[in-house]
Amino acid sequence: KILILDFGSQVTQLIARRVREANVFCEIHPNDVSDDFIREFAPKGIILSGSHASTYEDHELRAPQAVWDLGVPVLGICYGMFAMAVQQGGEVEPADHREFGYAEVRAHGHTALLQGIEDFSTAEGHGMLKVWMSHGDKVTALPPGFKLMASTPSCPIAGMADESRGYYGVQFHPEVTHTVQGRELLNRFVLEIAKAKADWVMDSYVDEAVARIREQVGDEEVILGLSGGVDSSVAAALIHRAIGDQLTCVFVDHGLLRLDEGRMVMEMFAGRLHAKVVHVDASAQFLGHLAGVTDPEQKRKIIGREFVEVFKAEAAKLKAANASAKGAKWLAQGTIYPDVVESGGTKTKKAVTIKSHHNVGGLPEQLGLKLLEPLRELFKDEVRELGVALGLPHDMVYRHPFPGPGLGVRVLGEVKPEYVTLLQRADAIFIEELRAAVDPVSGKNWYELTSQAFTVFLPVKSVGVMGDGRTYDYVVALRAVQTSDFMTADWAELPYSLLKKVSGRIINEVRGINRVTYDVSSKPPATIEWE
Ligand code: XMP
Repeated sequence: KILILDFGSQVTQLIARRVREANVFCEIHPNDVSDDFIREFAPKGIILSGSHASTYEDHELRAPQAVWDLGVPVLGICYGMFAMAVQQGGEVEPADHREFGYAEVRAHGHTALLQGIEDFSTAEGHGMLKVWMSHGDKVTALPPGFKLMASTPSCPIAGMADESRGYYGVQFHPEVTHTVQGRELLNRFVLEIAKAKADWVMDSYVDEAVARIREQVGDEEVILGLSGGVDSSVAAALIHRAIGDQLTCVFVDHGLLRLDEGRMVMEMFAGRLHAKVVHVDASAQFLGHLAGVTDPEQKRKIIGREFVEVFKAEAAKLKAANASAKGAKWLAQGTIYPDVVESGGTKTKKAVTIKSHHNVGGLPEQLGLKLLEPLRELFKDEVRELGVALGLPHDMVYRHPFPGPGLGVRVLGEVKPEYVTLLQRADAIFIEELRAAVDPVSGKNWYELTSQAFTVFLPVKSVGVMGDGRTYDYVVALRAVQTSDFMTADWAELPYSLLKKVSGRIINEVRGINRVTYDVSSKPPATIEWE
């Protein structure tokens, strides 16, 4: 296994991700772990991450001595290379200007790390790599025993190596995709230089994660808010695998879920997994509070507030229920790595609130519970893979995202029970047809080809004709987008034949809707949801 020591870079998790993609087990730990910890961990190789700090700002940032005493290969990335240079007897100095972004690096001296993986060659025959750089300082003198491995005009020592010990330092970031050969470089370090075993697959991650949860929780009880979304579902399945009946899931049904969703969640978790699930049907309460409210922000706030109220009440009951015995001590959440990064403030804070998001942060403190977040280090695609490894159905695990306030923000204006029912039925038809329509070129269906697709209920009536009669009914809009990060999105160019089928079915099968439109707005300036 590989040990990654984190010096505080924003992309350290990406190193772990690349190492795991090479099917090698790895763990990230802070750079100041003890020498004993490192010896006990017994890594086959160590990677020192980059940092937001410069060597001069913070002299405390050094790798523990055990890293150098263990006799295993070490790869220093950016700041990690500085630590290596300084601790091995080289020199680091502040640079005149920062180098940030794309750079072309020349490879020197045929090292096991860079040999033969250049992206192009110069007229003089030098192998060149296209990389991503972000650093202020630079190494100005190689430590004894090291040779030059890479350079750029402004950074004469952009890579160094002492191959007798398996020590490599790179100034650029191989973990980001902008470094074209980054994946190959990390694969080489991990598999060929450190000779780590490529035996880490999702199944073994399940075992690791289960063991960790058991150790963390002991014989205490855990509560988890199940929403039917991917993250909370996978978290529930994983924790249930680890501790069985010590876990109680609380499923708050706000009455704003997709058609049949409540039943499916119960069937899956209570029925198939035999997990303890408390199904709280709070739809009357939610719809009651929403009656007469038309402002989108106010609706969001009401739904968020009620959700917290209902969940808190249930959790308090569970905490007290067996107070005589143990009582719940933990609140589990399906927080995944991108959530951690986002709330850590590494993304720029938006100056204006476009939409108040459903937010359950702060709940563990209010409830006096400890926080259990077993998916904290995983990316979305890894969470999905984990879900499959835990036996959750493919369709559940590869679902489009669904907003916390649910159909509450897809019925425009006032949310009436009648509108919710019409929307649920129309939306189910849309999704069914998206899944059924296969694109002949890619072989994928249109649900897979879109990032998010749903129906929006418009509380306006329009005139239509059915048979010999006049109709005066509601309108729905279909929305389907393609996006990689949900920050920007393009409307999906669904085939006309598919749109035609969906509109025909909705108008014929859902009495009360006589017109279907397709939303052709991109984000920005529109948003994905309509409210
Ligand atoms: P917008 O509409 O802002 O949506 O373009 C971007 C993504 O966020 C989802 N969304 C939410 N997710 N709670 C959530 O968990 C919310 O309150 C919420 N509002 C929007 C939306 O579905 C889309 O995927």
